[in-house]
Amino acid sequence: MAAGPQPSAVRPPSAADIGPLIEAAVGRWYLPRTPGGPRIVGVDSETITRGVSGAEVRRHTVHLSGSGRVVRLVTKMSDRTERMALAHLNAQGHGSVPASHCRRPERAGPDWLCLQDLGDTGRPDVLSGIPEDMLASEITGLAAIHAANLGAAAAGLGDWLPPADRGYAASMIEEIVWRPNWDSAVAQNDFHEEFSSWLPRVEAAAAKVADEMGALYAEADTRTLVHTDVNPGNVLVHGGRAYFIDWADAHLGPFYLDLPHHLHTAQLAERYRQALAAAGHHVASADFVERWRVAARYTALRNMWWAIEAWREERDMAGWVLHYFGMLDA
Ligand SMILES: Nc1ncnc2c1ncn2[C@@H]1O[C@H](COP(=O)(O)OP(=O)(O)OP(=O)(O)O)[C@@H](O)[C@H]1O
Ligand SMILES: [Mg+2]
Repeated sequence: MAAGPQPSAVRPPSAADIGPLIEAAVGRWYLPRTPGGPRIVGVDSETITRGVSGAEVRRHTVHLSGSGRVVRLVTKMSDRTERMALAHLNAQGHGSVPASHCRRPERAGPDWLCLQDLGDTGRPDVLSGIPEDMLASEITGLAAIHAANLGAAAAGLGDWLPPADRGYAASMIEEIVWRPNWDSAVAQNDFHEEFSSWLPRVEAAAAKVADEMGALYAEADTRTLVHTDVNPGNVLVHGGRAYFIDWADAHLGPFYLDLPHHLHTAQLAERYRQALAAAGHHVASADFVERWRVAARYTALRNMWWAIEAWREERDMAGWVLHYFGMLDA
């Protein structure tokens, strides 16, 4: 029997792909399909950041003919999960994620992603004040994303999203973020002296958090598309509205996972509960708070590493360490 068509070898992405990608994105978003209409006459590019994960992010100022109009785009090297998540969220029409364009989101391996440029304004950190409109847009944006992907909509997501299940939580806490940082922190005498009353409580929370998060994941009715790395660095503010960027760690998991870093008090979380209800998914208050507390413990353990590192450099950062410790008792 004749062999079927062989899959052609996929060429790895290179810098030469950025120009055509920008052209395609500009054509899709900004240029009317009329003969003689505006066209691209030049592109100026600069590096914004290499990011913690090391992927270079570039900003491109695209000059169009005629009116002297410019449009700005961002490119980033991305994994399949991020491209798929953004394509999915864009197709659902969410206003709180950047428009994205790429060759084929489902292509395996890394590839360029072109994004709507959301500017340089980050979300205020959680211990600073945040304008009410900005906070409201963040809460409703997140609730809309979660609501649109709950229940029957979540069924197909597991085909391309990894699960934020017990194994995921255990690996994040014990192998990737909390344990390595914690072990080196507690090996220092001054850390003991400053935070001694907290150490057994933190260890106790860490010992049970994977089981607790596994139990949350087991509840299929709260499983949805989750970002898993909501932090002020991954929310940009554009036109007064909050946008969630950096979908590289998107998972299928309980929506509670995305709440406690920014919605770190029961009062703030309650606003999300109401937004989720307005988006069609009602959760009873007591059930909600109990699960938000589990996620708050996980989120505190997941994120305290940076505060501990900062405290080692600068003792004024003790307040941040205590902020995350306090979330364990939320
Ligand atoms: N759509 C965008 N508009 C404007 N700036 C952006 C956009 N996307 C990313 N950036 C900039 O690039 C930075 C890194 O982007 P992102 O968080 O997506 O990548 P990352 O490599 O995962 O970074 P990190 O590891 O630091 O989280 C952002 O903090 C922001 O400054
Ligand atoms: Mg990021």
